Amino acid sequence: MLFFKFRAILYFMNLRSTLMINEAGHLVIGGCDTAELVKEFGTPLYVTEQSRIENTVAAMVRVLNQKYPDSRICFASKAFCCKAVYQIIAPLGLGADVASGGELYTALSAGMDPARLYFHGNNKRPDELDDGVRAGVHAVVVDNADEIQALNAIAAKHGKTQGVLIRINPGVEAHTHRFIQTARADSKFGFSVEAALSAVKEILGRPNLDFLGIHCHIGSQIVEAEPFMSAVDRMTDLMVLIRDTFHVNARELNMGGGYGIRYTAGDNPPEPHEYVGAVADKLITCIAQKGLKPPRLIVEPGRSLVGEAGITLYRVGAVKDIPGVRKYVSVDGGMYENPRYALYDAKYDAVLALRALEPATETVTIAGKCCEAGDMVAAAVELPKAEIGDILAVLSTGAYNYSMASNYNRNPVPPVVLCKDGKARYIVAPQTYGDITARDIDL
Ligand code: LLP
Repeated sequence: MLFFKFRAILYFMNLRSTLMINEAGHLVIGGCDTAELVKEFGTPLYVTEQSRIENTVAAMVRVLNQKYPDSRICFASKAFCCKAVYQIIAPLGLGADVASGGELYTALSAGMDPARLYFHGNNKRPDELDDGVRAGVHAVVVDNADEIQALNAIAAKHGKTQGVLIRINPGVEAHTHRFIQTARADSKFGFSVEAALSAVKEILGRPNLDFLGIHCHIGSQIVEAEPFMSAVDRMTDLMVLIRDTFHVNARELNMGGGYGIRYTAGDNPPEPHEYVGAVADKLITCIAQKGLKPPRLIVEPGRSLVGEAGITLYRVGAVKDIPGVRKYVSVDGGMYENPRYALYDAKYDAVLALRALEPATETVTIAGKCCEAGDMVAAAVELPKAEIGDILAVLSTGAYNYSMASNYNRNPVPPVVLCKDGKARYIVAPQTYGDITARDIDL
């Protein structure tokens, strides 16, 4: 019985988590009662649990220190970009992947050491490349031949030698939504293995570029380790090819991110540290088999560091039962603050945050408040009978929610609150209507 009551949330509680239910039946995150959180900060509200991020990172660091000490974890900023996140991860020794001038700016203004930054993107603007070079990012990950030329000119202008990785498309099929599969042959990202050789040649011939190594990112929300193993195999094959062709060693191998997380009780992905452990083991085997000089291993997890650390709290504002069709529970958020259902048909679990011990009795669709028929947060969610005024918590919203939010329908982007040891504080302040109209210009 107890198990049944806890059913939905039990799967989300584990050693790394501080998610729990108190005696009043309230969901508690980072020691903070969600009843208090909504009283103090209102809804909709993104809530992030600091310890969970720290514990996940610590487990990854431990595994890598054990198996492959010459390594670095770089947080993929796009998953959750705001200054506080960098200030959580930097003291833990992490670097970051930035994929735009805006992410670079945020990382630098949060105090990130540029020597720990990797600058990505398939179409970095000249001003973005200039910002990266001037800031002294450790590496620019080049994505096409024209960029090599442009980057060399910018580095020369600043009298610098810029470290460079080449983004490779290793052609590994990852079983995930096709919009977030990035290493198929038909992809806007990266060089094919054949094209990579001419890119290396090009970089080696440029006086202001330093060829550091190769990078790949095979996709996102991949829930098995196998595709990463194939990618390590192909990337180390390419390292052999580069060594034999040009007599240079790739000093860095950046294997990107992509580790899948738990969104619903039915998901059972490996733990984040298990993915990196498997990548490190495979790399050690490949190095031995292929007689390679060991490169520094870089991994770039985004979602797996922050996804399960976040929840979103909403207030139910309308309930509509269409007999024989479906029941809509409408909340005060929607696709403007979580576009993942609209974009990827994403699945989420949810609980009534202040009635978390009550068993689920019905299956509902969580609708948003935007003027768009497809504006849902999640479908097929099992809940107790929801009433107007109930607080709904959607789980695992820590990645690609705040960072993908918009002002559609001129809805303000919700604030983000960070919880740790029973204390809660804003890390992103609420946006006002005034903020939204501030850049409008009257006619
Ligand atoms: N490195 C590179 C070069 C990437 O492009 C990405 C993600 C990552 C690392 C981090 O991947 P992660 O560990 O978070 O899977 N908006 C989509 C996800 C897009 C991911 C794009 N690249 C979503 O909401 O599912």
